[in-house]
Amino acid sequence: MKDERENRIGIVGLTGQTVFFRTPHLPRPGETVACGEMFFEAGGKGHNQAVACARLGAQAVFVGGVGRDENAKICQKALRHDGVQPCLIEKEAPTAFAAVSTDAGGENFVQVCAGAAAQLCAKDILQGDGYSALQGCKILLMQNEVPAQCLAAVIRLAQQTGARVVFNPAPAGGIPQEIYAGCWLITPNEEEAKCIAGFAPGQDVSDKALCAALHRTGVQRAAVTLGGRGVLVSDETGCSRIPAYCAGRVVDTTGAGDTFNGALCAALLQGMDLKAAVQFAVTAAGISVTRPGAAGSIPTLQEVRGHGSRLL
Ligand code: ATP
Ligand code: RIB
Repeated sequence: MKDERENRIGIVGLTGQTVFFRTPHLPRPGETVACGEMFFEAGGKGHNQAVACARLGAQAVFVGGVGRDENAKICQKALRHDGVQPCLIEKEAPTAFAAVSTDAGGENFVQVCAGAAAQLCAKDILQGDGYSALQGCKILLMQNEVPAQCLAAVIRLAQQTGARVVFNPAPAGGIPQEIYAGCWLITPNEEEAKCIAGFAPGQDVSDKALCAALHRTGVQRAAVTLGGRGVLVSDETGCSRIPAYCAGRVVDTTGAGDTFNGALCAALLQGMDLKAAVQFAVTAAGISVTRPGAAGSIPTLQEVRGHGSRLL
């Protein structure tokens, strides 16, 4: 039977304005640090991941809550500029705002006020414009920057339409356990993976023990990102590591995870298997860390091809 679903990715998440400070070092409590540079960028994990999907060749539609304010217009314009179809649902709260400080070594410190993004509800996904935008998608990509009822609604929608749910459980915490079993793939970073699997932060855990504990919580497949050490992939065939890609000097790792997630979904949408898709995503993320900002650092398909990695 012909697959009638459209060849596109639906992203449910946070979009908002971000201010980036470049500081000589990250401030300690009570300390004021003079910053050499600052710039604004529309972002948020969902926003950035949608942009990554689109820059890497996929059709992408973004669903999120925004305020009735200027920042909502900025976010909408930025999404459209990158070819993402925005479905922004107006709420009685300001559009999300984040502050990111990055030090000279590329280490960062992120604070997010979710505002209107925290008012997105299950109804926005299962009815109305949100539903119209998402119901035709083959992959539904979400992060933990929307309320838990939205995560559950995305899974319910996927169960109705046969879409694959890819869940980037970031930031960690407050995720109902039953969400994991409804996802085709989860993409936590190392600390988020430990949190889901029930280990203490910073605890030394072997790859095998981490993957086994993740699967015990109901996780079907996992791609655990390990920063500069690459990705740990775990599925029905076992667990193995894929090394990170070095594209040059690391300038800013903010949004590396977002580039990884968008690229991964763009590759999966093309029919690549999980390990090949991770390989592609690792190249894209490796390029992003050599540039400042988050959305601004996401490479195009042409740039990733230039580094020898291609889609099918
Ligand atoms: P962020 O929250 O900063 O977006 P994250 O914690 O979600 O990131 P990471 O595990 O830090 O995710 O990074 C995601 C992927 O980006 C890694 O698996 C790797 O492929 C790539 N990456 C991150 N840091 C580096 C680095 N220093 N060098 C090369 N690649 C990197
Ligand atoms: O993941 C990076 C993003 O986190 C930035 O774009 C910033 O907006 C914060 O939400």
